[in-house]
Amino acid sequence: MKKELVKTKILQKREVAPNIFEFIIDADNALRESKAGQFIHIKCGDGVYLRRPISICELFENKLRFLFEVKGEGTRELAENEQGDFLDILGPLGIGFTTNKTYQTPVVIGGGIGIYPLLQVAKEVNPITILGFRNKSLITLEDDFKKVSKDVIITTDDGSYGRKGLVTDSLCEILSKKTVDAIFVCGPMPMIKAVRKIALEHNIFCEVSLEERMACGIGACLCCATKVKSPVVGEDYTYFHVCKAGPVFDAKEVMLDE
Ligand code: FES
Repeated sequence: MKKELVKTKILQKREVAPNIFEFIIDADNALRESKAGQFIHIKCGDGVYLRRPISICELFENKLRFLFEVKGEGTRELAENEQGDFLDILGPLGIGFTTNKTYQTPVVIGGGIGIYPLLQVAKEVNPITILGFRNKSLITLEDDFKKVSKDVIITTDDGSYGRKGLVTDSLCEILSKKTVDAIFVCGPMPMIKAVRKIALEHNIFCEVSLEERMACGIGACLCCATKVKSPVVGEDYTYFHVCKAGPVFDAKEVMLDE
């Protein structure tokens, strides 16, 4: 799949929660080929040198939707763009989720702003979806996931909406009643580690999407290395670039605790 540098128009802009923006951009270009779990690398503004990696949330009608939280200078400048402005984007980048297989009972698990790359996954595999947030005010995309999931379970840390507790509590409850054959997860690292551990214990196919700090986004600067099992006989582990070999990895291959 070919990545390209495109200048493309913002068709819609919305603040969907405090400091969380949704952009829908024209993808009648190279971005049309984007896959669930891939990301785009966006030039945020003239004052920001490094591009920011942003996950692809949804593709529809030659449009691409992405959401991001304003966290620093780059995303603040990005959020200042308005409908009709053009964005300078390199993409699509990275390796996405394996959604081109048939799964009987897949489960999609997302936490916080890590839920965004999972909407396109849910559209393609029709899963049971578990979404975790710190509190009610941070919930986004609930209705979107409901449209494409068999069931949606929302958890909040403080119990202000949905079930009080962790996404892993809900996952274990599902596993006590059903045979799950795939898990797709993205979110904070402690959540990814906990879900990965459960998936490995139950021998369930699991893919994790990692959010590492990135600079170049194309495997050239070495700043996004993650430890993985080595494919080389006699070598226990090696390091792969999250931006190029990921951001999605097989849970069995990536070594998050070791
Ligand atoms: Fe430069 Fe991954 S961001 S190698």
